[in-house]
Amino acid sequence: MTTAFLNGDYMALDEARISPMDRGFLFGDGIYEVIPVHDGKPIGFSLHIDRMKKSLSAVDINLDWTHDQWCDICDKLVDKNGGGNLVVYLQVSRGADTKRHHAYPKGITPTVFGFASEIAASPDGEETAVTPLKISSAEDKRWRRCDIKSTALLGNIIHFQKGQAAGSDETLLFNVAGEVTEASMSNVFVVKDGVVMTPPLDHQVLPGVTRLMLLDMLRKDGSVPVEERVVTMEETRHADEIWLTSSTREVAPVAQLDGSPVGSGEAGPVWAIAHRLFTDKKFDY
Ligand code: PDD
Repeated sequence: MTTAFLNGDYMALDEARISPMDRGFLFGDGIYEVIPVHDGKPIGFSLHIDRMKKSLSAVDINLDWTHDQWCDICDKLVDKNGGGNLVVYLQVSRGADTKRHHAYPKGITPTVFGFASEIAASPDGEETAVTPLKISSAEDKRWRRCDIKSTALLGNIIHFQKGQAAGSDETLLFNVAGEVTEASMSNVFVVKDGVVMTPPLDHQVLPGVTRLMLLDMLRKDGSVPVEERVVTMEETRHADEIWLTSSTREVAPVAQLDGSPVGSGEAGPVWAIAHRLFTDKKFDY
């Protein structure tokens, strides 16, 4: 049975209750984080909490909990949910109002919710244990504040669902100028002639923690050049390798884009370097 955290208390997930007037429920007026835990240890915890604080501040949800408070909740959720390999989900909504009105209500208390669910162990270092993804592409129809990790994910969900219906594992997104933004639930890396490229951070892209960690690892390692720069769909279609990164996928190689093989159609040699680095270094973050 999953143990959840709701507004200061721990309880069975199916006993957790919020008001239907909660603005998270009515408007998607909330912020969330997904923190991976492997062997009972959270990965990139402080980076996730830093990003959550930035997102909360971007939408004026006032909750000045410290890193230590969040750390305590995360540790307890891990502990109460059996440790091992989990994702800890944390969400803060603006709270429950008495009426439905667009304006931010004054004086309401944010609703804080968390739970943990099991995930598979990461395929540490085992390159052959990783199945490369088949992805499709679509024009990015989401809002222009994708840098905020909002619970209002309908745009992402529609993109993901369309990809799934077409038999793909994820949907890579591009803007009206034909530039790659990210994917419906991951960031994108492209490799050409040995150079690793990823779109720069702006309002079109979630500043992924896995992206940040991988960039840092690759730069410190220094064996492959890395560029944060605009990457076009045209370049992506001729890439040697494409990878997707997220807290749940880590660094996932892509075998097919819109039915055509990416490079050799298998996980590439630069991905193998990135995968090895991520496996070895992720517990340092
Ligand atoms: N999604 N871009 C989008 C749109 C995402 O939803 C995610 C993660 C990422 C990668 O971010 P990170 O490396 O910090 O996980 C990029 C999470 C896992 C989710 O919504 O379930």
